[in-house]
Amino acid sequence: MSNAPGFETLAIHAGARPDPTTGARATPIYQTTSFVFNDVDHAAALFGLQQFGNIYTRIMNPTQAVLEERVAALEGGTAALAVASGHAAQLLVFHALLQPGDEFVASRKLYGGSINQFGHSFKSFDWHVKWADPFDLASFEAAIGEKTKAIFIESIANPGGIVTDIAGIAEIAHRHGLPLIVDNTMATPYLCRPAEHGADVVVHSLTKFMGGHGNSMGGMIVDCGTFDWSASDRYPMLSQPRPEYAGIVLHQTFGNFALAIACRVLGLRDLGPAISPFNAFMILTGIETLPLRMQRHCDNALGVARFLKGHEKVAWVSYAGLEDDLGHGNMLRYSPKGAGAVFTFGLKGGYEAGVAFVEGLEMISHLANIGDTRSLVIHPASTTHRQLAADQQIAAGAGPDVVRLSIGIENIEDIIADLDQALAKT
Ligand SMILES: Cc1ncc(COP(=O)(O)O)c(C=O)c1O
Repeated sequence: MSNAPGFETLAIHAGARPDPTTGARATPIYQTTSFVFNDVDHAAALFGLQQFGNIYTRIMNPTQAVLEERVAALEGGTAALAVASGHAAQLLVFHALLQPGDEFVASRKLYGGSINQFGHSFKSFDWHVKWADPFDLASFEAAIGEKTKAIFIESIANPGGIVTDIAGIAEIAHRHGLPLIVDNTMATPYLCRPAEHGADVVVHSLTKFMGGHGNSMGGMIVDCGTFDWSASDRYPMLSQPRPEYAGIVLHQTFGNFALAIACRVLGLRDLGPAISPFNAFMILTGIETLPLRMQRHCDNALGVARFLKGHEKVAWVSYAGLEDDLGHGNMLRYSPKGAGAVFTFGLKGGYEAGVAFVEGLEMISHLANIGDTRSLVIHPASTTHRQLAADQQIAAGAGPDVVRLSIGIENIEDIIADLDQALAKT
């Protein structure tokens, strides 16, 4: 082929080739913990990072390697690292960048689990988050201090579906010599490629739309290859000699994929959240249909948002795909093929209506996940955010009237019919 392959082609072929031993066309599941060395010198070269190769599945595995190459190609990065979950991806990136006592700035519009991870669990590592408001870019700049090492945002934020101004925040990060990390879970590279707007690192929960079938956990770190880790002394794991690897300086040795290497040979090796080869295979299979699924998710979500907007029992709908939504301008700029499939709406009947609505649905599943082929729903105030006081629920975007939907790829008329009959019960 003379031209660079298109997105749909990369989603099927990037990283994969027929198995050299058996001719198997689908990527095999290399369900093995470990790999035989050719000889002692080969083993020594692998352990010393002089040669790339498989040692042990916690660190590297051929099925995982295909998944990594594929996602790096789809995101336009230099390298990627597959891990056990989206949370593991976030942990390993910050492990490579932060020292005890360090800080990072994060958008306050994030998946609730990330807010917990950053705000509570990371404190035990002496890593500290400062929150900023994605609708007020100056708040990112104001939150940057001497110890800040990175900025973290979601491209499309879960659950509100807000499309973040990636380029605007990248400009602030770079002016302060900081990398921008973007969680691209909700958009996927089909809708938005953050590297094209200034992101230096992209992370994913592959558990959602990338795998796409609600059956396998996974996460990914994509090194965009754009950040100079040696421009300051802020990132010693990348710019200083590593004692456990005979004094190698990772950035000097691995250049524009040094972050992906650091996350693998230090973070994954020592903290251990490896993805299983089986899950890597399931997610690879899911990615083959990502462009078809994502477009259908978005088209269905827009149809549902329009239906809800016109419904007498619905107070408001927050979906950036709607022309009059606050986020529509950013959607046209960063995610023009669609605004994703996860969004919130409010019921005029408040808490009781929310409970009656989720209990009244017949086809749409009431559960705490997004990004499945199936349509999913949750009423946060009676489930995930139940323990919070009313004012805390509202601050978290989980007030008593709020319902979150993740629209699947079923027939749109069936989705709307189910919503309609459940609304009638509220
Ligand atoms: C936007 C976003 N990022 C990260 C995560 C965490 O991913 P995982 O559940 O795979 O750890 C989630 C999970 O819902 C998510 O929605």
